[in-house]
Amino acid sequence: MSAHEIKKGIYWVGAIDWDVRNFHGYLTQQGTTYNAYLVVDEKVVLIDTVKKDLADQMLHRIRQVIDLSKIDYVLSNHVEPDHSGAIPLVMNAAPQASLLTSKKGEQGLRRHYKSDWNFQVVGTGDTLNLGSRSLSFINTPMVHWPDSMVTYMPEEKILFSNDAFGQHLATAQRYDDEIGWTSVKKDAAKYYANIVLPFDKQVNKALAALSDVAIELICPSHGIIWRSFIPKILREYQKWSTHQLEPKALIVYDSMWNSTKKMAWALEQGLSEKGIPVTVRSLKANHISDVMTDVLTSKLILLGSPTLNNGMLPTMAEFVTYLKGLRPKNRLGFAFGSYGWGGQAVGELDNVMASLKWECPVPSLNVEYVPDQEELTAAIEAGHQLAEALLK
Ligand code: FEO
Repeated sequence: MSAHEIKKGIYWVGAIDWDVRNFHGYLTQQGTTYNAYLVVDEKVVLIDTVKKDLADQMLHRIRQVIDLSKIDYVLSNHVEPDHSGAIPLVMNAAPQASLLTSKKGEQGLRRHYKSDWNFQVVGTGDTLNLGSRSLSFINTPMVHWPDSMVTYMPEEKILFSNDAFGQHLATAQRYDDEIGWTSVKKDAAKYYANIVLPFDKQVNKALAALSDVAIELICPSHGIIWRSFIPKILREYQKWSTHQLEPKALIVYDSMWNSTKKMAWALEQGLSEKGIPVTVRSLKANHISDVMTDVLTSKLILLGSPTLNNGMLPTMAEFVTYLKGLRPKNRLGFAFGSYGWGGQAVGELDNVMASLKWECPVPSLNVEYVPDQEELTAAIEAGHQLAEALLK
């Protein structure tokens, strides 16, 4: 449990959460980290903290470098408790410290902790001189809370980006190249799809604000530090935030007695016959937060559910509730399913896609009980038509 010096006098002092598996609905199969950074200059700053339960890890790492009472500033880039949870402990140990945060940050921290700390509001255009180095603040509201802010240290070209560019990954490694691009990109994509996706305009604004800033290190508040793949991850963020989608299909479905499943595979056949790469995700076997990673880059999304009672299956209802909250844009959609009587599920899925403003170029398919060969052929044909619409 050591502090890790990332540049002279700048330390990672965060906490590794090897055990967390569910982060408000996001399945974190690999755990996560809460990254805090300590800058020791003429002034001492602690940049963000960690979840309260893991505060001991952070406090231990800070004490390896400096006595807690020497901290001059605690900087809170974001109020969410995975980053602010240990602030009360730090402020108790360093009661003279100023607590730097955005205007919304002060409001949020007061609501969370009911404490009258020595708040100092900072924001875009403000700079704090630490001695040989300085910190500049950039408000990034709604990336992903109203209080969100990133902090830049020009002398070392470090961006402390908080949640932006994060990944949920518990690891003893601290840097992107120690994990490898393919793996770390996948984790960053899942993080973006599940946390950042609704805030495309705000991300674009933040990327524009950073476009003429020289960056050698991006230090996010979760996962590894970016040092070797910075241009690559910036390009991915650009693509994700502008909805540059790949001409591929994602079929998400659940089934009661395999009828909707048969339709899913007939649609897969039709799409594949036209050369479209297709990913098929059963909601029995895949968590909704993993399915969102596929949604992030897929242009065509097919949703399938049988009708249970008078609506879609609860698994699909859960998924579409989550999907609507994350608001993926510019997709082509298609709904399908089976029914015994009633048959409302497909109409409900059509309504979900309409609410997301997705274009549905091919009429949805709703099949009574079990699809016969003619109906499966119609599903294959629908796959062909969807492929044509996708490639148009
Ligand atoms: Fe990692 Fe929005 O907290």
